[in-house]
Formats: sequence, C-alpha cells, structure tokens
Amino acid sequence: MDLYAEAISALNATLARAEASGRRNMNAMTLATVNRDGRPSTRMVLLKGLDDAGLVFFTDRRSGKGQDLDSVPHASACFYWEPIEAQARIDGRVVELERARAESDFRSRPRAGQVMILASRQSQILESKAALASAVTSVEQTYPHEVPVPEFWSGYCLVPNFIELWFGSRDRMHERVAYSQSEDGWQKTLLQP
Ligand SMILES: Cc1cc2nc3c(=O)[nH]c(=O)nc-3n(C[C@H](O)[C@H](O)[C@H](O)COP(=O)(O)O)c2cc1C
Repeated sequence: MDLYAEAISALNATLARAEASGRRNMNAMTLATVNRDGRPSTRMVLLKGLDDAGLVFFTDRRSGKGQDLDSVPHASACFYWEPIEAQARIDGRVVELERARAESDFRSRPRAGQVMILASRQSQILESKAALASAVTSVEQTYPHEVPVPEFWSGYCLVPNFIELWFGSRDRMHERVAYSQSEDGWQKTLLQP
C-alpha cells in the first residue's frame, strides 16, 4: 500500500473506531475556508464519503462556504473524537463533484430535509422565523410528491495534501502521525506533541 492509501485507510479506521463508540455525528468535521480577502471562517459539515479520492461533503453552493470555495478552492478540515481521544486534520484543495453525486445525496435525504434545503437561502439574513415557515409551507404545497433537486445543491471533495492523526495519551506522549505530499510524493513523519 502506498503512503497516501495508508493515510486514507488510517483515517477511515479511526473514524470507524469513533463511530463504534455509539456517539452521534462522529462524521461531523469543522471545515475551514478562506474568502478572496484571505479571511478564514469555519463551520461543521458532515462527511458523506471518504476514499482515495478524498473527503466528500454537501452544501448549498450559494452559502458562505460555497462562495469561499468558488474564490479559493482550498480548505482544511478537523475532527475531534472525544470518545477515543483522537483528532484528525486534513488540508487540501477542493473540487466540485459531478451533478449526479449531488442528486443522489439530495434524494437520499428525508423529505423534510429536502424541503428545508429548497426553502432556505442558506447563510442569507432571515427576516423572521415566520418567513421561513411560510417558505417551507410554500415548497411543501408546490411539491406534494417528489421535491426536485435544486441546482444549487452541490457535492465537494476535499482532496488531501496533508493528513495528520493525533492520538491522546494519558502520559502526555500524544502521538502525531503526519502524511504530507511533496514534489517527491507522500512522506510519513511523526510530529512532536
Ligand atoms: C453537526 C453539524 C453538521 C452540519 N452539516 C452540514 C452539512 O453537511 N452541510 C451544510 O451545508 N451545513 C451543515 N451544517 C450547518 C453548517 O455548520 C453551517 O451553519 C451552514 O452550512 C452555513 O455555513 P456557511 O455560512 O459558512 O456556508 C451542519 C451543522 C452542524 C452543527
């Protein structure tokens, strides 16, 4: 196995260990993006796929993060898995996935989630909760059966150039294993805690 495949496999195995704890949302990651002025912002998103292609998540392309990624297609993600005292950090470039991926993600969501995606203009100012409730009712009435996949729903893949796994230790000898990509390929190193 090459070092990149090893890194993805280690990340997957650590996520699986965290999920085995039974705690919810172990696939939630903090995603940092920067805007065109270089200003960073973070938010949680759910990891919906992880393989050698990278880390997949879905969002509204018109959102703050969507606009950031449009201008600066790089991001950094961080997981903290308290039940197993582990952290993972992943940096890389972000590519938008083909439409079919966004469509199948949207169709996999419960109807109430689909309705909200359509009713909400993610990250824009909300005048009142009543306005959102009325937008939800309107979408429900317009689409009593199938909710169409909106054009703005999109999948993104964070293609790693750096992956670090951190494992906490009672004696403070926390282990940090870093995989980084350079011109010579992938390197694996330990980092001081
Ligand atoms: C646990 C958790 C998971 C979330 N997952 C997603 C997600 O997968 N996609 C998404 O667009 N927003 C998700 N959100 C909401 C985002 O954190 C954020 O509020 C929203 O996407 C707008 O962010 P932006 O204005 O930076 O684009 C999640 C929030 C939490 C707390």
